[in-house]
Amino acid sequence: MTPPDSAPGASSSSSSSSSSFRDRVRGAASPSPDVRELDVSSTPADPVSLFLEWLDAAVAAGVVQPHAFTLSTASTASGPTARTLLLKDVDDAFWFTSSALSPKGRQIAEDERVALTFFWAAQGQQVRVTGSAVAGPRDVAEQDFRHRHPDSRAVAVAVPQSTEVDDVRAADEALDRARAEVEADDDLVPDDWTAYRVLPVSVEFWQATTGRDQVRVRYDRVGDDWRRASLWP
Ligand SMILES: Cc1cc2nc3c(=O)[nH]c(=O)nc-3n(C[C@H](O)[C@H](O)[C@H](O)COP(=O)(O)O)c2cc1C
Repeated sequence: MTPPDSAPGASSSSSSSSSSFRDRVRGAASPSPDVRELDVSSTPADPVSLFLEWLDAAVAAGVVQPHAFTLSTASTASGPTARTLLLKDVDDAFWFTSSALSPKGRQIAEDERVALTFFWAAQGQQVRVTGSAVAGPRDVAEQDFRHRHPDSRAVAVAVPQSTEVDDVRAADEALDRARAEVEADDDLVPDDWTAYRVLPVSVEFWQATTGRDQVRVRYDRVGDDWRRASLWP
């Protein structure tokens, strides 16, 4: 851990703003002190089992949207970008759904390598997944879309995701038309709605411990197997 007296800005001209920032977050809650230690020698052979164990524990502990994660993508034109998504499924791959016409969809089309980051604050746990995002079968995307609330479906049909809205009235009219289309056809699924699957090539688990230390274990795909390594915090 970084000692308090060597915190960024402590000895520089920005020390006053840095110390007021420390004051601001001083009262913030920390991870629960009874977090479990990550015992490297007894971790399962494959990372998906451990991920599901941690996810189940987060659900049981009442974490709000424990399946939310940060999806990071990158492309030459736009550089790195990240946003929050909800995980839709896990088998040998991690699944999420979105529009292929969105900025993230366009970035994935340019470079399919992505990173998924899960953070369960009270548990003091982080999971980092890297792999390539590829479009899964069309029927998975269709099933996902049909399960969405009609309003969410209408929003996705009306205007491409992340489009700048110059004319609010025109956008509202497009939304009204999309609502009518969605109401008239339960099976309507826009062509760009995509279920992406990320087959992991590495999965890293980070666990805070009661000693205010951290334990990290990374799984790296080697052929059909996983190689496990402890990482220095
Ligand atoms: C909790 C949460 C869950 C979200 N889930 C999704 C999702 O599953 N799919 C999606 O396309 N956008 C989801 N979003 C919206 C994205 O964060 C993002 O705003 C949107 O996908 C546009 O991203 P882009 O412009 O980088 O393509 C979610 C946002 C939040 C805060």
